[in-house]
Amino acid sequence: MGDDAGGRLGMVRFADLVRPRLRGIDVYAAPDARRGLRLDANESPYDLPPGVRRALADRLVGGMGLNEYPDDGCAALREAICERHRAEGVDLTPGMVVVGCGSDQLIAMACSLLLDHGDKALCPSPSFEMYGQGVLMAGGDPRWWHLDARDGYRYDVGGMADAVRAESIKLAFICSPNNPTGNSAACDDIGRLAAACPETVIVVDEAYAEFADESFIGRVNGYGNAVVLRTLSKAYGMAGLRVGYSVSGEEAADALRKAKPVYNVPSFSQAAAVEMLRDVGSVMGRVTEVRRERAALAGKVGALALGRLGLGAVVYPSQANFILVRLPGGAAAKTAAALADAGIYVRAFREGGPVGDCLRITVGDPAANDAVVKALGRIWD
Ligand SMILES: Cc1ncc(COP(=O)(O)O)c(C=O)c1O
Repeated sequence: MGDDAGGRLGMVRFADLVRPRLRGIDVYAAPDARRGLRLDANESPYDLPPGVRRALADRLVGGMGLNEYPDDGCAALREAICERHRAEGVDLTPGMVVVGCGSDQLIAMACSLLLDHGDKALCPSPSFEMYGQGVLMAGGDPRWWHLDARDGYRYDVGGMADAVRAESIKLAFICSPNNPTGNSAACDDIGRLAAACPETVIVVDEAYAEFADESFIGRVNGYGNAVVLRTLSKAYGMAGLRVGYSVSGEEAADALRKAKPVYNVPSFSQAAAVEMLRDVGSVMGRVTEVRRERAALAGKVGALALGRLGLGAVVYPSQANFILVRLPGGAAAKTAAALADAGIYVRAFREGGPVGDCLRITVGDPAANDAVVKALGRIWD
């Protein structure tokens, strides 16, 4: 019997045991460790400020109880998140906040909590790939909402509301500012969608909100079916520590906690996040610099592309810490490869996809932005 079972099991390929609808999906193509200028993952160009590093080092040396599991409820961190938002006039309570190991984890949690087998979820395209992945992993059925380049990738929220009702959509994602196109959805429109579709959960992913003019976070409590996601991976420069959070009404937050893996946020990450949230001055200083650099980079890359590659080159207006550049004549993949040869990594997209002829360039520090402009000047010569 043992041999038999062993024999039969030995013949089964692991891949055949995977749920049929997941067999064809690709592993998320996160960039490999690379040396050079990393302008392909929308990270911050700055490590944690020296004062924060020193405070964390002192705590580490003094003993942080890393032999014990972290605070599952992230009490101090949720309080620091509320304080941070109160300082900008948004009144949150810790009960409205759920902390994840990156906002990726909150996307997965929302999908697994809300989607039964075959339930439909509306995912924008082009947008952050983890929505479709989260929906599939949860057993749901992703439906794509196409954002149109000719319309500046505008979120047609009225059209989305019609689709949500017509297709009985259970969960809809809005990425604002949208990765990779950089445009935001108007908060009034998001509110109208949430009000028009009370049986659909609207997840508003605001990973890049600190770089934008508007945020839905102050309005979320008015809608029982809306959840805002934020991350400390971008403006706060903490991508390596994996901290994100959701803000919603308390009832929605209580429900989301059911899908939270226990002890999901490491103690060190919680401590670092508290320190960073208290150092608002340096975070906002860096955000101001990125916004200024974004305008300069967009202007220089746009002028170069138009001058060297001709009409058809477009730099889309951005509310985030990256710019999307459309390049005519199949130049996107070649340009990305030539930049990589020069040690500068930017994001190219799947050929034939909605942004296959585009590059997404993270806004770096002034030296990085100069380097990318100079390299493009050489490549497009
Ligand atoms: C729109 C969007 N949402 C979420 C994330 C994931 O962020 P985190 O590092 O918090 O998991 C990213 C990362 O690039 C993103 O672009």
